[in-house]
Amino acid sequence: MILCRTAVQLETALARQPRERTLVPTMGALHDGHLSLFRIARESPGAVVATVFVNRHQFDDPEDFACYPREEEEDFERLRQAGVDLTYAPDEQAVWGGEPPRLEAFERPGLTDVLEGRYRPGHPRAVAAVVSRLFDQTVPTAAVFGEKDYQQLVLVRRLAAERQPPIRIVAAPVVREPDGLAMSSRNRRLDPRAREQAAGLHRTLEAAAESIKDGLDVEQAQRQAFETLIELGFEPDYVEVREADSLCQPAPTDRDLVILAAARLSGVRLLDVVRFGLALS
Ligand code: PAF
Repeated sequence: MILCRTAVQLETALARQPRERTLVPTMGALHDGHLSLFRIARESPGAVVATVFVNRHQFDDPEDFACYPREEEEDFERLRQAGVDLTYAPDEQAVWGGEPPRLEAFERPGLTDVLEGRYRPGHPRAVAAVVSRLFDQTVPTAAVFGEKDYQQLVLVRRLAAERQPPIRIVAAPVVREPDGLAMSSRNRRLDPRAREQAAGLHRTLEAAAESIKDGLDVEQAQRQAFETLIELGFEPDYVEVREADSLCQPAPTDRDLVILAAARLSGVRLLDVVRFGLALS
C-alpha cells in the first residue's frame, strides 16, 4: 500500500495508478463498518484509494474534535489488510492549503439545512466541502459511502452528480452489532450501561417503520418513536420520515421511505436509519 501525506506525493502516486479508482473517505479509527466499505470498493474495477482525515470544520464542538479517536498506525495496518492500494492521510495544510473552506458554496437547500443541518448548523456543508476537496485531489471514478450517515450519502450523491464527469456513488448497507446497534467510532465512548441501552435506537426505528407499513400515520409514528426513545433514556434531537432519494417530506404517493434519528445517550450522539418500502395500494 502506498501512503501519501502531501498533495504533491498524492499527484505523483496517482499518475501511476489505474485511471479507474474507487475512493473510500474516512476519518480513521476504523472498525468493521469501514472494512465493509473497502470490501465493496474492491468489487469495482481499478484501484482502491482511502483517505484518513479528521475534518475539524464538521465538528460543532472543538472538544469533540480534540477527543476524536486517532490511531493512525493501527488504521494503516487495517487498510493494508483490507487490500487498499493507496492511502492519502494529509494534514490540514495539504487539504485546505492554508485557507479555510468557503462553506457557503456548499449550501444545498433541502439537503444541508434539514435534519443534521438543523441540529448541527454548518455540519453538512463542512462535510460537503471536505468531500469535494478530496474528490478534487484523488480524482476518483467512484466512491463508497455508508448508509448509516444517510443524509451525508444523499448530499454526496448530489455533489457527485454535479461534477464533470460525474462520480459514481456506491451506498454500503449499515453494519450492525449483533444486538442491532449501528457500528460507529463513537460507540466506544458509551459506558457499559449505555452500550446495553443503545440498541433501543434501532429497535425503535424498526418498530416505527413496521407500524407505518401497517398503516399508521407518519406523523404519529414519528411522535411515538420520539417518546419511546425518551422512555428508553435517550435525548432525541429528531425522528423523521423522509422520501429515500430526495430527503423531502414524504408525499402520500411515495413508496420508498427512510426513518432517520439522532439521539444522545449518556452524552454520546448516535445516528441511525431504517429504509423501508410501502406496498403499492
Ligand atoms: O463519514 C465520515 O467519516 C466523514 O463525514 C467523511 C465522509 C470522511 C468526511 O469527513
